[in-house]
Amino acid sequence: MKALSSVEPVDLDRYLALQEKFYEMGGYDILSSIPNYLIELGLSDISLDKSVQELSGGQKTRLKLGKLLLSKDSLLLLDEPTNYLDVASVEWLENFLQNYQGIVMLISHDREFLNNCCNKILDLENKKYPIYLGNYDEYLFQKSTKEYNDLMIYKARMKEIDRLSKEAGKKKSEARVTDKKFIRGWEGPVVRKVSGKKAKTAQIILNKIENNIKKNMPDKPILKDKIKIDIHNIQSGWKILDIEKLTFSYDDKKILNNFNLSVRKGDRIALVGNNGSGKSTLLKIIIGEIQNYTGSISVGDSIVPAYFSQEHDLLDPNKTVIQEFLKYIEMNEGDARTYLYNVLFAGDQVFQDISTLSYGERARLQMAIILAGKSNFLLLDEPTSHMDIPSREIIEKALASYDGTMIVVSHDRYFLNKIGINRIVDLGRLEVINE
Ligand SMILES: Nc1ncnc2c1ncn2[C@@H]1O[C@H](COP(=O)(O)OP(=O)(O)O)[C@@H](O)[C@H]1O
Ligand SMILES: [Mg+2]
Repeated sequence: MKALSSVEPVDLDRYLALQEKFYEMGGYDILSSIPNYLIELGLSDISLDKSVQELSGGQKTRLKLGKLLLSKDSLLLLDEPTNYLDVASVEWLENFLQNYQGIVMLISHDREFLNNCCNKILDLENKKYPIYLGNYDEYLFQKSTKEYNDLMIYKARMKEIDRLSKEAGKKKSEARVTDKKFIRGWEGPVVRKVSGKKAKTAQIILNKIENNIKKNMPDKPILKDKIKIDIHNIQSGWKILDIEKLTFSYDDKKILNNFNLSVRKGDRIALVGNNGSGKSTLLKIIIGEIQNYTGSISVGDSIVPAYFSQEHDLLDPNKTVIQEFLKYIEMNEGDARTYLYNVLFAGDQVFQDISTLSYGERARLQMAIILAGKSNFLLLDEPTSHMDIPSREIIEKALASYDGTMIVVSHDRYFLNKIGINRIVDLGRLEVINE
């Protein structure tokens, strides 16, 4: 009996209140609304009992977003959401975020994605003006305008410092002259002393320079637009490459089947296709690294190709940055250091061993060697995929001014736009992803 009496009585009012809250929050609808959410997430044709492990990278990301969506939070925090997503999934995500009612705060290196999804950019590197209104392109424009203005202010202040220093110098020497006059009439022992109003004025000017101007002086801004790297491309004939009925398999796995492609001078081709569709294989066949194919490949006269390998396996890990650069490029050491400086290998970094470089740095070095060398046909396999944004900007600017022919494999839509792609070759979708 004692045990029974210790049982808490049911608080019916509390129970009813909680039940109502559960109802209001959509608790009873949640199961029936899942199919709708799945449609919205582009996952409608996946059976509900499928294990999460069997989903593709893009599908997993969509599922994670779906969970966020169900929680109905009004703030989405996304850290590099487009990594490992194929183009279709990125476009889906853009559409989703454009229609999302709440606040979205995201980190991304995908500049096209930033352009399509953001209306404010927070730049943590630039502590002075961290927030920019607008998308990524608008941010770049405002930032470069601000940097330019800063440089103008800097130059004006330097000029003012120069002018005031001269004035102070003049006043000082005038003060000495006054002093001499004073000494001339003096009959006692000669006493040298700088005195008078003018010396005082000189000091006031010097104080002004130190306390007013120099203290508020910005660091000298560096205009990135000024960085220029020379590209050495050589003339080619009209015909670059003809591929006919190219067929290739790895063991039993057919990668390319009766593939045809004609490349002519001035073509700037983006080679696209899902992971595993054979993009890298095709470039390796063109460059001659893979030979057991059938079909014909004929390269035009005087074609000098340059190849960027996705695996960065063309660099010798035991060499330093400058040794490797000079192995391929005829330049004196001073010019090589300037060239490498312009592709962001500053100071002693040129003496760093390649084995200690990050993937992005290796990619940058490989591109520097390609750009500084003489070529007229570039074959680039995902050149920017490990690079940070400043590196990408330098490379894309250089490639935009390259007037040879190129085939580029890249998922970076912003990069492809900037380098002026004029043809797209799609190797098709071998991995079918549910959309
Ligand atoms: N050396 C190899 N041996 C066997 N299969 C390979 C080899 N290299 C690539 N593959 C396979 O061939 C397909 C095409 O690869 P790849 O050309 O690297 O694709 P992409 O560059 O389009 O992602 C993939 O399925 C890949 O797993
Ligand atoms: Mg590849």
